[in-house]
Amino acid sequence: MKIITVDLPQNPYEIRIGSGLLSEVGKKLKGLDFKGQAVIVTNPVVSDYYGEALRDSLIKEDFRPVFLVVPDGEDRKSLEQAGQLFSQMNELQAERLTPVLSLGGGVIGDLAGFVAATYMRGVPLVHVPTTLLAQVDSSIGGKVAINHGQFKNIIGAFYQPRLVVSDTSLFRTLPPEEIRNGLAEVIKYGIISDSGLFSLIESHIDPIIPLDENLGEEIVFRCASIKARIIEKDEHDQGLRNILNYGHTVGHGVETVSGYAVSHGQAVAIGMIAAALISHHLGFLPGSELERIKSIIQKVGLPVKIPGPDIQSLIQALQHDKKKVGGNLRLVLPEKIGKVFIQEGVSRSLLEQVLEELA
Ligand code: NAD
Ligand code: GLY
Repeated sequence: MKIITVDLPQNPYEIRIGSGLLSEVGKKLKGLDFKGQAVIVTNPVVSDYYGEALRDSLIKEDFRPVFLVVPDGEDRKSLEQAGQLFSQMNELQAERLTPVLSLGGGVIGDLAGFVAATYMRGVPLVHVPTTLLAQVDSSIGGKVAINHGQFKNIIGAFYQPRLVVSDTSLFRTLPPEEIRNGLAEVIKYGIISDSGLFSLIESHIDPIIPLDENLGEEIVFRCASIKARIIEKDEHDQGLRNILNYGHTVGHGVETVSGYAVSHGQAVAIGMIAAALISHHLGFLPGSELERIKSIIQKVGLPVKIPGPDIQSLIQALQHDKKKVGGNLRLVLPEKIGKVFIQEGVSRSLLEQVLEELA
């Protein structure tokens, strides 16, 4: 078992990582001085697998757990769904110190986090992330949000959890596609900050799916440590935190243009290759490093080409990207594996050239 402390001056919290930790949630919650009712937001898939174990853990410590089960899927990150949860919290007579626990992947974490951040101007939030992506990324750092209209994560807040419990044994039920989605973010951490982590994935590529518990723990620990250190320096995304968006600018475009048929991890994989190619063309990233990036993505089973012929729609979508500055794009580019920088003013012509290469 490993513990990381996210050392924020006003909201320090622990990320606990290891196999079997679901059973300790009740005890840890009690240790934070909570008591009485505890509201768990989850979905039917995760609830079927792990609801009972979490319930037992809470009851053992004299909590009164109430499960609010929302349907599975990204479309649940909506105002309507948040509204239903607010109504349910009213009916439960939830109070300012009633903790809200998210039990699920990033969708549940973002939705429950949004509700916790806004209900009564903020009730305590605890994340129990159940996907690789949620353990390495979305449960850490306090970004909570819902989607609105055609825009993803457009209504939200920075709202740090009081505790994150990442039970790595939960990966055993995760479909391989979801492991791959998470691995896209893991590879991202390797490229932006940890060449050793990148090499670890390279050398374990074959047995990595299904994810072995020890390897899972090591991977989650390394990624969560990187994110924690970044959050401590730039909680509100004013500078350094932007590097976590490596691969996400082109990635979001690919995701949107595909109507979400391309998953987030697949889209980020393509986006990471696009940014690496741009960096290579600008003379920053050596060809050998570019090849390692392409190769690891391919071996993990993620795409290295943009699906579909519609590059023009993708370019248009990128013009609307909120990170666009004065007509040119602002991108996170790798200069070697383990080190990235932010490049302002990447030209439309270079972007088009690279997207054509990836078509
Ligand atoms: P998800 O929450 O949709 O989970 C993926 C699927 O796995 C779902 O069908 C879910 O029911 C299932 N599942 C979850 N845990 C399981 C388990 N242990 N066993 C079996 N099935 C399980 O997807 P995700 O990839 O975890 O999260 C994606 C979301 O995270 C997106 O909405 C994205 O915007 C958000 N996100 C947020 C941040 C942030 O900083 N807040 C960062 C990255 C992504
Ligand atoms: N997932 C990007 C961030 O937390 O900033």
